Amino acid sequence: MIDLWYKDAVFYEVYIRAYHDSNADGHGDLAGLTEKLDYLKELGVDCLWLLPIYPSPLKDDGYDIADYYGVHSTYGSVDDFKTLVDEAHARGLRIIADLVLNHTSDQHPWFQAARQDKDSPYRDYYVWSDSDQKYTGTRIIFTDTEPSNWSWDEAAGQYFWHRFFATQPDLNFDNPAVREEMKKVAKFWLDMGIDGFRADAVPYLIEREGTGNENLPETHEYLKELRAFIDQHYPGRVLLCEANMWPEDVRPYFGDPSIPGQAEFQMGFHFPIMPRIFMALKKGDVSDMVEIINRTPPIPAECQWCTFLRNHDELTLEMVTEEERQWMWQHYAPEPRMKLNLGIRRRLAPLLDNNRRKIELANSILFTLTGSPIIYYGDEIGMGDNIWLDDRNGVRTPMQWNPDPSAGFSDAAPEGFYAPVIDSTPYGPDSVNVADQQADPKSLLNTIQKMIAIRKQYKAFGWGDFKWIDTGTAAVAAYRRKYKDERLLIFNNLTDQIQTVSIPVARVTNVYPIDILGNRRLPPLENGYLSLMLAPYRYLWLRI
Ligand code: NOJ
Repeated sequence: MIDLWYKDAVFYEVYIRAYHDSNADGHGDLAGLTEKLDYLKELGVDCLWLLPIYPSPLKDDGYDIADYYGVHSTYGSVDDFKTLVDEAHARGLRIIADLVLNHTSDQHPWFQAARQDKDSPYRDYYVWSDSDQKYTGTRIIFTDTEPSNWSWDEAAGQYFWHRFFATQPDLNFDNPAVREEMKKVAKFWLDMGIDGFRADAVPYLIEREGTGNENLPETHEYLKELRAFIDQHYPGRVLLCEANMWPEDVRPYFGDPSIPGQAEFQMGFHFPIMPRIFMALKKGDVSDMVEIINRTPPIPAECQWCTFLRNHDELTLEMVTEEERQWMWQHYAPEPRMKLNLGIRRRLAPLLDNNRRKIELANSILFTLTGSPIIYYGDEIGMGDNIWLDDRNGVRTPMQWNPDPSAGFSDAAPEGFYAPVIDSTPYGPDSVNVADQQADPKSLLNTIQKMIAIRKQYKAFGWGDFKWIDTGTAAVAAYRRKYKDERLLIFNNLTDQIQTVSIPVARVTNVYPIDILGNRRLPPLENGYLSLMLAPYRYLWLRI
């Protein structure tokens, strides 16, 4: 029997450079994370997702890989990685790494060999053209910086294809050698005992003229091949799909696990629900969330969505309409500098006006919706951002462990930190840090820890079905989670007004609800009706 642990796991996204510096060089490292595993264990998360840790010129913060088989020197060594995996496992924590399939760095020896010699076997590892007028139906992703998906390479005397920065040439997945190389890469890290991968940018592997070059059937064929390889040699390791697409376009990335060779990913990020949670909170209206969840097709029983509020990228607005995007920018990116590409470079707490009730409410939704939640490092303490840093670096600043000016991140002089610690009021380490919040039972950190602990007591969150409850008002996001005889009713008041709701629950008498977060029994239902008065932004998780 394969362990489907990811079905009800809580994930945590770690940016190693930002987390903890063990050797005082101003950069977080693997040994630093190892030192903080007890913190993560106490928080209650089950699995860590590590952003790329490989040697890289860091033009895209490690998503431009120069060597798939090593560790970036500032992060430590392969041995440090093994220690981290072992120490995590010893605490019952799992680890998944980033698998960057679609592209390499232009500094990768494959690309260097390819550009210098037309006859090199590596030439065909990449996608070349004499003209930049091929594949013109393809959108540009990094709209702020990339005028084209083609860049001219002087040494090669041809254009090369890239869906991201021009420093990240796309690999050619029509080439069987490339297909095998990437299995070898997966094997190398799986052999070290990791629990799986978050696979980067998977919709873009294959190009075909006349298409938008996304989600092509040939791309799915390769992903099936990769999954079959992993299932055969490493059964039970998980693959999490990064496809920033509409739910119906993500559905095929789960494949059909009931047919041998037809499975793809066990998990997929649910991108479109994310901006709609922010819409719901600002509008005080659940309708956009309802629409997208209702539009989400069922997925195979062994599969799971992964839900998030924020991550290391800009808050992406690719999966909304043009009108909704303008609305989101207007309400959540009032300063031009807050915008980046088709998104917003801000963290959770500042997006929600550092309003404690709204931050808790957003987390209540995250932890109770369908899917396995993932927390972005620092959001559990309400860290701020620095929109003036380049690219997406403003949401990748040092983790704030204590109130010192260095935030307890590193013993190096703060001038030598890879990025400045957030110092803007009220987000500096003197106001936002782990140590103070650990000591305060009412802190955001302790509240989130509690939400995770309670979530873990109920199978319904990970395994149960999901059904909207009609409360007669769109001001409350209310839904039922049900698994076997476990029946949970979740209410989130999206507004700054008191909301009263009354819903029929059961025809039987002597039924009473329990507030599972507050651990208190509510009065028994009257005539089968549950009536609640919800304070502004109040959330209630009830067990019937
Ligand atoms: C998605 C990653 O999340 C992002 O950080 C990166 O820039 C692109 N993929 C390209 O690898």
